[in-house]
Amino acid sequence: MTTAEDSADTSTCSPHAVRTPRTTLDGDVVLAPETRRIFDEAIGAMRHHKTIYSDWGFGSVDPTGRNMILNFYGLPGTGKTLAAEALAGTLGLPYIHLGIAELESKFVGETAKNISAAFNTAAMEGALLFFDEADTLLGARLSSVTQGIDNEINAMRSTLLIELERFEGVAVFATNFARNYDNAFVSRIRYHIEFKLPDLEGRKQLWSKMLVPGVPLEEDRETLIERCATESEGFSGREIRNVLRTAFPRAIHDNVQKPCVQWTHLESAIADVRTARRNVGRNLHAEDGRKSSAEAGRRMLGF
Ligand SMILES: Nc1ncnc2c1ncn2[C@@H]1O[C@H](COP(=O)(O)OP(=O)(O)O)[C@@H](O)[C@H]1O
Ligand SMILES: [Mg+2]
Repeated sequence: MTTAEDSADTSTCSPHAVRTPRTTLDGDVVLAPETRRIFDEAIGAMRHHKTIYSDWGFGSVDPTGRNMILNFYGLPGTGKTLAAEALAGTLGLPYIHLGIAELESKFVGETAKNISAAFNTAAMEGALLFFDEADTLLGARLSSVTQGIDNEINAMRSTLLIELERFEGVAVFATNFARNYDNAFVSRIRYHIEFKLPDLEGRKQLWSKMLVPGVPLEEDRETLIERCATESEGFSGREIRNVLRTAFPRAIHDNVQKPCVQWTHLESAIADVRTARRNVGRNLHAEDGRKSSAEAGRRMLGF
């Protein structure tokens, strides 16, 4: 395993961890039908990639089309990180997860080196390369370079563009901010896939998936799921999971001898998540993408 400490301690880059996916799109991710349709199209294109680009020779006239770059965008907690691993699982590829922890470096110049090392490993292992929370990486290059930190961000973005140009595999970017992308990146992305908050049907599927069969329920399961789905309008998949993280221990606390999850446990946990969001959550819709991207850049580079 590569840790943030490894990369900070060494001047050369440690190899990035290549992981085996534990999930698939079919088995683990609830997607809106239109989102799923785009996935299916992208998967089809990837499966036939070799035929089109190598066997038919289309690669000679479309050299930049040899890779497949996808961008997942949408509100936090809607399943982007989960779907990246599941896409690798569906394609039967190992994957490399690059989050802020894996890329960050306090030493100027190291971040760009880490990116190159990740591309090399992905090419060698045939792994899907996943840039999680990539707002910083995909943002517009800064035109008024006044500080070392801005230089560092620009160097990192230039390296990323060069590596993407050479890369022949599958790369996925995930971001909460769809705006403020550098056009040089946008033109290289083959599929932009939006992750939306689940609608009523999506929420039913999420509740059904997360109310795993081993959970003792007091009421009829289907009735409970209907109720939960109706009451949790506007919740992301992550928030639904958070409701259960609160509700289950609460149910056990109520009756340690013979625990049983009741509607009241779920109802109160739904209310808690709503309150928490109102009190401590930030409204990402209202947030300024440019400012956030620059801030994320500084955070990522340790400033
Ligand atoms: N569309 C979804 N389908 C299934 N589970 C989901 C979905 N969205 C969120 N979840 C649950 O919430 C967790 C966090 O979601 P995550 O993928 O980290 O969201 P994001 O990367 O968009 O912020 C997931 O691990 C999963 O348990
Ligand atoms: Mg994520």
